[in-house]
Amino acid sequence: MNIILDRSIKKPLYKQIVGQIEKDIASGELSPESPLLSERILARKLNINRSTVVTAYDELEAMGLVVRKKGSGTFINTDIWGIAHKRIPNWGRYVEDGSFHPNLPLVQRLRSETQENKIINLSSGELAPELLPGEQFTSILKEHSFNERLGYDHPLGNETLRYTISKHVQFYKKMSVQPDSILITSGAQQAIHFIIQCLLKPGDAVAIENPSYAYSLPIFQSAGIRTFLLPVDEHGVNPDDIISLQNKHRIKMLFLNPDYQNPTGVKMSFERRKRILEISSVYGIPIIEDDPYSLTSYNGQIGPTLKSLDSSGNVLYISSLSKIVASGLRIGWIIGPENVIHRLSDAKQQVDFGHSVFPQWVASQFLDSAKFAQHIINLRGELKARRDIMLEALDDLSNHTFNYYVPEGGIHLWCKINQEVNEFQLLERALQNGISFVPGKIMGSEKGYVRFTYGRGEKQSIHEGISRFVQALQSFNE
Ligand SMILES: Cc1ncc(COP(=O)(O)O)c(C=O)c1O
Repeated sequence: MNIILDRSIKKPLYKQIVGQIEKDIASGELSPESPLLSERILARKLNINRSTVVTAYDELEAMGLVVRKKGSGTFINTDIWGIAHKRIPNWGRYVEDGSFHPNLPLVQRLRSETQENKIINLSSGELAPELLPGEQFTSILKEHSFNERLGYDHPLGNETLRYTISKHVQFYKKMSVQPDSILITSGAQQAIHFIIQCLLKPGDAVAIENPSYAYSLPIFQSAGIRTFLLPVDEHGVNPDDIISLQNKHRIKMLFLNPDYQNPTGVKMSFERRKRILEISSVYGIPIIEDDPYSLTSYNGQIGPTLKSLDSSGNVLYISSLSKIVASGLRIGWIIGPENVIHRLSDAKQQVDFGHSVFPQWVASQFLDSAKFAQHIINLRGELKARRDIMLEALDDLSNHTFNYYVPEGGIHLWCKINQEVNEFQLLERALQNGISFVPGKIMGSEKGYVRFTYGRGEKQSIHEGISRFVQALQSFNE
């Protein structure tokens, strides 16, 4: 048994012992005839506490790899050894040890709870089924014949779709972009993932908004990225906070969601956009502009996006069809300098050889048709109506005790409940009452906030949903 401990790494010593013994058993280095060193001797040899060895042996025993015989010592489990080539992997351990972090348990729980139809869903960040353009898609399928090649598509994504997107962003966002500067991704989520994986390395510091959607993503931790928080007020993040973070931590990248931010619903002011671009250029900090919501602007006025104001090439722009057409299409895109786009497209090839041809074809047909323009106008009206129902319900049912920003676009409402309760216990009670919401802590905020999504549930259930939430909240006073 030649165990070497590395005290410079984070992995606990007992886990290192377990890992090495496990490896030695698997490789045959340790045979069943040889007992493991006694706890006392191994502890002395490694110059560690005996209790550390005891913990390691306990774990090996729990894994079924060793048996401990009172008075005689610890032996490799001969049952397992006898069927050496058929050993069952310890899946629990694999599941725990992978470098890609799982979602927070609460996020997993919310996801599985909201799959139940009975619940009024004020938590999922997507559009309600009745807001999706199912009929328009059906007529596209009837009107157009599908003549695309069905092999692997262009590494940057379908050429026609990229051309359509370049026209789309020119028309709606005044951004002049060549199709070769666009990469089609599986939603904005994959775009964020590729940027983290390809352009950052472990130990890098990035700044994200607080609260933010980005905060809820474990993909930064999985990649060993350090995240620093920029508070969001009603005008977005404060540019001076970026300078302070830069002075303290040398920020490598800035992640911003300037339009109808998830979860606060706020739109960053024009002055702050200008100032942030200046800071980005003075310090050479690239900005990731995550913009899935700007087209939902209820009064129809859009932008300017940071990308459209950026004359120095500092902004990588992400958008998607999830919040304006359908999340299930999984169509997103990144716009940026060609060398960056090619690097990210190489990652896309490694991960999935490019997006599926069919959704790209339908998306392109839809975006390029008059049906899309009409759909967006209807969607804005519907979302605004839902927002108003929610605001009215919140005011009435809480007796005006809740505070919130009034969103002028998007699908989320960020609410301060002004009551000292544990949000996670509140969520449990709300779920029992048949309504889901997102506790603010998941998005990184201080205590006392919740996110309601009015875009997802049935319109006529929004009032009832808030009523059930208020009942859950009031039950803490009883
Ligand atoms: C700000 C923001 N970025 C990205 C995403 C991911 O969206 P997609 O479905 O396009 O991957 C979301 C989804 O909620 C979001 O709110």
